[in-house]
Amino acid sequence: MPENTDEEPGGKKMKQSAVQDVYQRPLQDLRISIMDKCNFRCSYCMPAEIFGDDYAFLPEHELLTFDEIERTARQFVKLGVKKIRLTGGEPLLRKNVPELVERLSHIKQIEDIALTTNGVYLVKQAESLKAAGLDRVNISLDALDEEIFQQMNGRRVKPQIVLNGIEAAIEAGLGVKVNMVVKKDVNDNQVEKLADYCRKLGVTLRCIEFMDVGQTNGWDFSQVVPKKELLKKFEAVAPVEAMEKNYFGEVASRYRYAGSDTEFGIISSVSDTFCGSCTRARISADGKLFTCLFAESGHDLKEILRTGATDKDIEDVICGIWKNRTDRYSEERTEETVKNRKKIEMSYIGG
Ligand code: GTP
Ligand code: 5AD
Ligand code: SF4
Ligand code: SF4
Repeated sequence: MPENTDEEPGGKKMKQSAVQDVYQRPLQDLRISIMDKCNFRCSYCMPAEIFGDDYAFLPEHELLTFDEIERTARQFVKLGVKKIRLTGGEPLLRKNVPELVERLSHIKQIEDIALTTNGVYLVKQAESLKAAGLDRVNISLDALDEEIFQQMNGRRVKPQIVLNGIEAAIEAGLGVKVNMVVKKDVNDNQVEKLADYCRKLGVTLRCIEFMDVGQTNGWDFSQVVPKKELLKKFEAVAPVEAMEKNYFGEVASRYRYAGSDTEFGIISSVSDTFCGSCTRARISADGKLFTCLFAESGHDLKEILRTGATDKDIEDVICGIWKNRTDRYSEERTEETVKNRKKIEMSYIGG
């Protein structure tokens, strides 16, 4: 069984085993969505036609409070979680995120606290997030070309705003990766440009195959640029070398530019799936636990948190759910599942 080690007060190492699912996949990572709203309307995630002015986002009282998030995270840690990622929607639309980061940073078994963001608020918040204990940010940026980016984010935000956020995060001392969702004939001509930009900055760019998450983004296979083609685009920038995964369960295939330490990655959930090593649990902003990004429904943790459950009760519920987990959607994807499975929205579950 994979093991976490934890320091006891006397300095002795205490072994802690991660709970495993039906396919022996350990529970290692927890992705917590803290806000379902977003200031962008990316066509592949929250298309503006669907997520309009009258869209019913969660009311504030439905969101897990910081107390509830911290308490839940502590139970996950007991079951093996070592890494926490805050997501959204846009997580930085939630007030006082540094306070939450600070609370999570006091959980000593947590080795890595990260945040996935569109980057707009980083100029204001990067320093306080770093000071609170945040290790890393993954920042989404789909194009350097103004018109393409403005079209894709659905709110006509200019790429320079995100570039400023990337620089602010680097200056604050945060680890930075850039995430680019690639859609055929929409922004695939931007891969080389962004690769070149990130290489010069020494930042890891990850190209993500457009995925069939949710019900609203009009996905079909023909809009995906597969890993093989993406790799060719990087090879046009400079010679590249494949690298080992950084950690078990990493979703990106890693590469570096030959003779340098600068990396890039490809996340190929369609053409080269990675369910076999999927170690991730996800919690939506209203406290539902999902064991797959493509799940049809979640398990309501908020209900039990708010009806007097003890820590042990919560831990047992999570443990039971993970032990029974059989999700492997990307490996099972067919024309039929793409069309007929009722999947939750990406902005709700946080990617
Ligand atoms: P690192 O911790 O830096 O490796 O980040 P990450 O890649 O785990 O997280 P991030 O939020 O940056 O996600 C990048 C892309 O990978 C997004 O498009 C996610 O939806 C996708 N992704 C993350 N985890 C999974 C997963 O378990 N399954 C699938 N299919 N996609 C995932
Ligand atoms: N396919 C692939 N990646 C997506 N993301 C959002 N929607 C999709 C999709 N349909 C990415 C975002 C962000 C991360 C959380 O998920 O761009 O980088
Ligand atoms: Fe917002 Fe990120 Fe979704 Fe774009 S991909 S709409 S930035 S949550
Ligand atoms: Fe994990 Fe589901 Fe993604 Fe497969 S499709 S890697 S099971 S989240």
